[in-house]
Parts: sequence; structure tokens; C-alpha cells
Amino acid sequence: MTALLFGGDYNPEQWPESGWDEDVALMKQAGVNTVTLGVFAWSSIEPREGEFEFGWLDRAIELMHANGIGVILATPTASPPPWFSLAHPEGLPVTADGTRLAHGSRDTYNPASAAYRSAAARVATALAERYGTHPALRAWHLHNEYGTVSYGPEAERGFRRWLEAKYGTLAELNRAWHTAFWSQGYGAWGEILPPQQTQYLHNPTQLIDFKRFAAQLLLDCYQEQIDAVKRLSPGVPVTTNFMLPTWLHYDPWAFGAASDLVTVDHYLDARGVEGAAHAALGADLARSFGRGRPWLLMEQAMNLTMRGGKLLAKEPGAGLRTSLQHVARGSEGALFFQWRTAPAGSEAFHSTLVPHAGPDTRVFREVCELGAVLGSLPGVALPLGSPAASGGPVVRARVAIAWSADAWWAADSPGLPSRDHDFYADVRRVHRALWLLGRTADFVRLDDPRLAEYALVLVPSHLAASDAEAAGLSSFVAGGGHAVVWHLSGTFDDELHIELGGYAGRFAPLLGIRVEELLPLEDGETVALSSGAAGSAWSELLDTRGAAVEAEYAEGLAAGHPAITANRHGDGLARYVSTRLDDAALTALLERALAEAGVERELPEAGAGLEVVRRQGADGEYVFVINHTSEPRTVELPGADAVTGAALPAPFELAAGEFRVVRPA
Ligand code: GAL
Repeated sequence: MTALLFGGDYNPEQWPESGWDEDVALMKQAGVNTVTLGVFAWSSIEPREGEFEFGWLDRAIELMHANGIGVILATPTASPPPWFSLAHPEGLPVTADGTRLAHGSRDTYNPASAAYRSAAARVATALAERYGTHPALRAWHLHNEYGTVSYGPEAERGFRRWLEAKYGTLAELNRAWHTAFWSQGYGAWGEILPPQQTQYLHNPTQLIDFKRFAAQLLLDCYQEQIDAVKRLSPGVPVTTNFMLPTWLHYDPWAFGAASDLVTVDHYLDARGVEGAAHAALGADLARSFGRGRPWLLMEQAMNLTMRGGKLLAKEPGAGLRTSLQHVARGSEGALFFQWRTAPAGSEAFHSTLVPHAGPDTRVFREVCELGAVLGSLPGVALPLGSPAASGGPVVRARVAIAWSADAWWAADSPGLPSRDHDFYADVRRVHRALWLLGRTADFVRLDDPRLAEYALVLVPSHLAASDAEAAGLSSFVAGGGHAVVWHLSGTFDDELHIELGGYAGRFAPLLGIRVEELLPLEDGETVALSSGAAGSAWSELLDTRGAAVEAEYAEGLAAGHPAITANRHGDGLARYVSTRLDDAALTALLERALAEAGVERELPEAGAGLEVVRRQGADGEYVFVINHTSEPRTVELPGADAVTGAALPAPFELAAGEFRVVRPA
């Protein structure tokens, strides 16, 4: 049977070889069955251009193999060594202000540079030639967190070629970019630049096109490495670790499609229930980007993580709970950054599995506990990279949140009517509210035909929508689906042109409304609604074109006008929310929408910090129940404890911070 993977990044090249045996002994004590080797190890693998030193890596891989520990092998291309950047300065990235960065950190590479790309392909090929069929190899981990953007001359040339392929003629580009505004008309392709630092606001369409281009460059880099290793390593799944949920340097849907296995890094940014909601968000994104296929948590931290200039310390047991959250939501294991805390270097205070104080520590005891729990759940794991191994999604959600890179990037555009439009923050808020209501959510593109599989689709801050996305949402609702759309969504098309005739215009026919005027609220200003709720950040002057009014503005510039509407469209229902509701009102609105769409809680007692998720394992269904609150909770779920095998009383009591993995009766 496949085991859930447990372990993490192991960097033996940073330690004297005399200590490796102790590492392995501790790994076995903890139940570690997988390590990721080679991340950032380029200067140890290729210390001089074209000269490889594999001896240490041979010995490390053999040591793991001899001890039954599988290897995920990374290509080290996120950290080119000093020799590379001195020999190929064009392989270093240029920032928007024109500064060519120097080596001395990591991620200092130029994805547009031919020299970088061929050096990356060379080291990837050399690794695949040597280890591609090694029996310890479980997966390829290509690069690390793709994300570097360069604005220099190499990117400039590529950007022009990309634009020419996209638009064909300059007239078409000038139209799409609306360059008559501020005298930006281009008379030759050679006049076009990446959006380097300039005097005032950038052209929004130029900016989003550059983001799309930069994202494509990273995908090209990834694809080149995929091609290099795949032919030498048949049948071994390839992946790259996404940084979720806060980074967006590429389109995760496209990266997910290129990967055999989606893997993600997730670092908590809060303790307690808020942290748990954050972990659930990252895991649900990962599962969604994998489109229901098995996925894997590649990195997380047992304890201390850097967050806004200060290390976040976790509560006892948090590492265990967070790991189980990910497994519940579909991860085929729980891996960490990193095995042992470095004695020096930029991340010497970042938590690991073996802390500076050694194995006689709370952290290492919890690591052993986690290893034992994961080791006792062999029936949960599915083989990595297997397409739809369970014959369907590992976790089945009936509610989905619309997610696209364009929507995120559009909300980052210059010149928007309010700086309060934050795609990530708004999506997170809606996901958190669903999580607190005990519902598991997927993320979905509005032009995905699988939209029809959901009962309810939520559309917060989706400022830009292509024709296909607008049509996708419309036919979803017409076919009987329910939707909630938040203010300003559907205002732009994918060229960031405003649909004329009323804001939210791309979705207006489906919503049965016309938004006439935008009325952003002042900082700290709130407006009362007729429902008793309060709105903040935003209000609008809108009238209905077929929709029913569910709440009006009771005060403010839009007093007496609709604030929340609901429209029957075909067989479905589409709500529009024109302000930012307070938490209680958002919860009430979602509760109503979920009930109307028939989306039940996972268990009646799920929610408010009691997390309940059903996932398919290789041998059937498992229900993960985790109490993230500081109070005991009672759970009515007949079945057996999958970790101990013991029958569970019904109901059973779950103390604060405790969990149960249940085989339902
Ligand atoms: C990740 C990265 C790791 C490590 C970690 C620290 O983003 O992949 O190498 O730096 O952050 O939290």
C-alpha cells in the first residue's frame, strides 16, 4: 500500500558527512519516509561550469535508499552559483527601476535569459541522466517556487515577440492598450518596453499583458525542465512547488496542467482558528489547481515561520493539526522545510523538524507523534501523479469560489476607483466564512465546464472576465446553479476595457441590474442597510432590471437604493452584493445562499472552528474531524478511529485541539 509521505527538505551538503548517519537514525525514529534533496544545491552539484560533483549526492541517495527512505529530487535552478552570474551577467534579473541584481541571495535568475535557460536545462539533464531511474526516486521537484520577474533587455525582446504574436498588428495593440490616452501610441514594435519604473500610473493593459508574458516565461522555463527530465525518467511524476496562497507570479491553472502532481508550500500567518482557516484556504487552492488529482504539501513549518518581520510561534499541537488539515483536504502526505535547522545562513532561525536544541525537544517529540499518526493511516494515500486515482475527486465540494490569475491581476491595476479592491483578501474572507460555516470549497475558473458540478459559485472581486467566463457564469446559473457576485466583478473584459452601459456589465444581464454610479466609502465610514447589516468600503447607485431587492441602503449617498439583489435567471438564482458586508451579515448571506442551493454542512456540528472533511483514500472514505477551538466539542459520527482502530462512541467528545480520523460506519 502507498504510505502518506512524511519528511521534508534535507540538505546534507550543508552538513559534515559524519553527521548523516545520526540524521537517518532520527528520521527512522520519527517515521520519515521521504526527503527532498538538492533544492538550492547548484554550487555543490556543479561547482564550475559544466563540471559536476555527484559523489556526495550519490552517497546521500544511497544512504536514503538503504534505509527505506524515498527521495524527491530537486533541480537546483532557483539559485544559480556565483560562477554562473559572473560568466553570464545577462542571466541576472533586472528590476523595474533598471537595476541588474547581483548574486548573493537566491532566486536571482533571469527567466528570459538564454544563458540561464540552457544552464538550467543542462543541470536538470545531468541529474536526470544520473538518477532518473534510481529506485529511491519518488518524484522530480523542478526548481523552487518559480517567481522571479525581470524587466531588462532580454525580457523586453521576448515581450515584444509575445505581443506581436498576440496582437498581430500595432493598430490592434494600440486599440487594446488604449494608447491614445496620455500619448502612448506606438509606431514600431521596438518602441514598446516592459512596464519599467515611470513617472505616474502605468497603462493597466500593458501591465497585465506583461504579467501574462512573465508568467508564460516561467511556464516555459518549467516546461523545458519537464522535457529534460521526462525522457530520462519515464513514469516518475514531475512537479514544482507553488507558493500558496499569497504569491501570484504565474497562472497556477497552467502550472497545474503542466504538472503530474501539484505540490504546494504553505506557511501559516496566524495562530488558532484564523491560522486553521488559512491552512484550509491553501489546501483547497492546491486541490483545485490539481483539478481533483492527488496533490502534496511540499513545505510547511512545524513551528516558527517568518511573517512580516517577526517569527510566528505556533501553539503545541499546531503542526500536527495543520498537517492533518492538508491530508484531509487531499494532500498525499505532509512534508516540511526543512529537516534540521541550519547553524548559519539567512534562515537559521526558521523552524525545522530537528531544532537547534536537538531531538530532545517539544518540536521533535511532536514530529515523532505526527510520523506515528501518518504512519497509521496507510489506507488514505493514493499513488502520486495518478490521474483521478479514486475515480473522482479526493474531496468533493459543492460550493466553489471563482479564481483566476487575471482577476487577481486586474484588482492590482493602477487607477481603480478604490485601493480597497484586494482580490486575495476578498477571496480569503469568503473562504474563511464558508470554512466557519462547516463547508468545504473548491476554486474554479468561470470558463471551466466543470462549473456545472457545483450547486453554488461565489464570485468576489472578479473585476475582469473574458467573454468565455461571462458566458460560463451565465449558463451555469441558467442551468439551475446559484451564484453570489460581489461589487465591481465583471466590470472589465480581459483587455481591462470597461463594459459600457453600467458597471459589473459583463454579469449585469444575469444579475438583472444596472450599476449607474460608483460611490466608494471613506476610510472608516459604514452605511446601514435596511436589513440591519452594515456595509463598508464600497457602495453603489444601482437599479434593478428584473432582480428583486433584498436590502436597500438606509443611509449614505445611495440611501433608498438597492444594496443586495437577487435575480432568477433561467433555472437558477444570481445575487449581487454591492458593498462589503460586516462579518455577521456576510455569514448570514452565505448561510442563506448555501441553504437555498442545498449545500449541507459536512456534519451538523461542523463549523465555528470544528473542521470536518471527508476524503477518499485508497481503501474508502475517511472523515477528518479537528477541533481548532479552545473548547471541547461533541461529534455525532458513528465509526472507528482510523489511527487506533478502536470503535468510537457515538457521540464522541473532542477536547480542545484534538482530532480524530474516522472510518465512518
Ligand atoms: C519557502 C522556500 C524555502 C524556505 C521557506 C521558509 O518559500 O521554498 O526554501 O525559504 O520558504 O519559510
